[in-house]
Amino acid sequence: KSGGFTAAAANYIDERTSISGVVKEFGRKIFPDHWSFMLGEVALYSFVIIILSGTFLTFFFQASMAEVTYNGSWAPLKGMEMSAAMDSALKISFDIRGGLLVRQIHHWAALLFIAAIGIHMLRVYFTGAFRKPRELNWVIGFTLFVLAMAEGFTGYSLPDDLLSGNGLRIIDGLIKGIPFVGTWISFLLFGGEFPGTAIIGRLYTLHILLLPALVVAFIALHLVFVVVHKHTQFAGGGRTQKNVIGYPILPVYAAKAGGFFFLVFGVVALMAAFFTINPIWNYGPYDPSPVSAGTQPDWYIGFADGALRLIPPGWEFVWLDHTWSFNIIVPVLALLVLLGLVAVYPFIEGWVTGDKREHHILDRPRNAPTRTGIGAAGVTFYAGLWAAASSDIIATHFQLSLESVTHAIQAWVILGPFLAYFVAKRVCIGLMKKDREIVLHGYESGRIVRLPGGEYIEVHEQVDDYERWKLVDYEVYEPLMLRPNSQGKITGSARLRVRLSKWFFEDRIAPASRTELEAGHGHGAAAHDEIEGPGH
Ligand code: HEM
Ligand code: HEM
Repeated sequence: KSGGFTAAAANYIDERTSISGVVKEFGRKIFPDHWSFMLGEVALYSFVIIILSGTFLTFFFQASMAEVTYNGSWAPLKGMEMSAAMDSALKISFDIRGGLLVRQIHHWAALLFIAAIGIHMLRVYFTGAFRKPRELNWVIGFTLFVLAMAEGFTGYSLPDDLLSGNGLRIIDGLIKGIPFVGTWISFLLFGGEFPGTAIIGRLYTLHILLLPALVVAFIALHLVFVVVHKHTQFAGGGRTQKNVIGYPILPVYAAKAGGFFFLVFGVVALMAAFFTINPIWNYGPYDPSPVSAGTQPDWYIGFADGALRLIPPGWEFVWLDHTWSFNIIVPVLALLVLLGLVAVYPFIEGWVTGDKREHHILDRPRNAPTRTGIGAAGVTFYAGLWAAASSDIIATHFQLSLESVTHAIQAWVILGPFLAYFVAKRVCIGLMKKDREIVLHGYESGRIVRLPGGEYIEVHEQVDDYERWKLVDYEVYEPLMLRPNSQGKITGSARLRVRLSKWFFEDRIAPASRTELEAGHGHGAAAHDEIEGPGH
């Protein structure tokens, strides 16, 4: 009998764990299909690849700064003094079978991981998926973003090559720039004067134990919330705030996701095989004296490096017998404040809009012009900082002076976000107007006909039901009204809130209403009955 053993085994397990209920329940979960929902998955799968490849590396990597003489098979460095960490990373690269490929897979997967998280975060932001009830999951996700960057930075520092040593040197400089306690903290962290002999071992514990444990715990929590809240969906025929339209996890989505995991793994393996990343054998071991031009951190650290390069020099003075390095304190604080604002954005927007409804239907970015504008401003600012991390390379490639590149990027970082905000907001409003026009009057077909009376008109074609649903079925918000509180007073914070709320909603176009649709020049009146959505 086929399946006899499997069935018996399944039964055995189920009788002892009652797992079938869970599998049934979970397997029936519906996962909606939209390409942008794939980004969280890419993050998840690249993390799995990171764990697999990282575990392999731990078998051979030595997190020690003890001095050794390199005697591996990479001839140019033979006989050179270096730390055991560098020595082992070189041996992984040249003397351990498959070692170089796994190192490269680990590094490429790390780069992909953080890129996927970043874009996933942007998709969550621009579609308003962070709104109630998902605010906390946004914060959990944001924590993951920070943890991932910390994982990346600690990992990147492990091989103790020239590039990673210079990265740590900058961190040491940042720490020493903290007034009063900086030097103490630096000594504590490095176990003495930089670079000391302790830091690689300490970073290693963080990199393979503490941080991964936190990442795993937060990812688990994050996904539990995705299941509990159910996934959001874009507006469309039959989709409401109360249902989710898509495929059940078992069998369809699980099969798709499983296949997709192997695709991601395959692409990472191909990149690792064909494109060299972090060729530490070219950089050589860390030595504080040589710093070559054109050194760059991994991409996700670029924004921090750029911020340091953009601050004008000379913001430094001595007071109370201490050096106050505002050229370090200011960018560090500014970045912390900005990151903090990103972390709590859902709560800020919730307060400004006064909206307490649950949202399971996503916004198209155009339908939330102010949010989209703020996002565009943020992306522009980030891009400026990131570009600044390459200021020297931009200068040499385009034969410009380093100062003029720096000044140009300084201007961009300050003015660019405002420009991006206004342009994005106007584009959104324009698109909303266009949508409204299309819903009410149909598409321009490009077909010009001449009426018997001699008049020329362009024939407009009606949008189909599904398209019309997408175009009108978004939620209507209202700016807050100024209302006295329970003591009958109008507080300052209430005034501020009303002002911000007005600004948030200014120039917003309401979707075509039911009456307008019915009046819609008599086009396709029958189809209008289908339209039923909140706000109508
Ligand atoms: C949804 C994974 C980081 C916020 C999801 C989903 C997955 C996922 C698989 C469901 C599919 C999807 O919508 O893409 C991860 C992993 C992360 C991570 C592995 C990092 C290790 C973040 C970050 C944020 C975030 C940085 C925001 C700051 C959210 C939210 C949802 C979500 C709000 C629910 C979206 C919805 O229902 O539409 N995440 N995520 N996640 N993620 Fe993440
Ligand atoms: C090294 C990133 C998790 C083990 C590295 C490197 C990076 C990195 C960029 C430098 C690679 C190179 O030499 O070019 C990350 C990220 C992680 C992560 C972003 C998680 C989000 C892990 C885990 C383990 C691990 C979970 C162990 C189970 C190692 C080891 C090295 C290393 C042993 C040193 C080997 C070497 O540099 O050749 N990591 N890693 N990593 N990672 Fe990870």
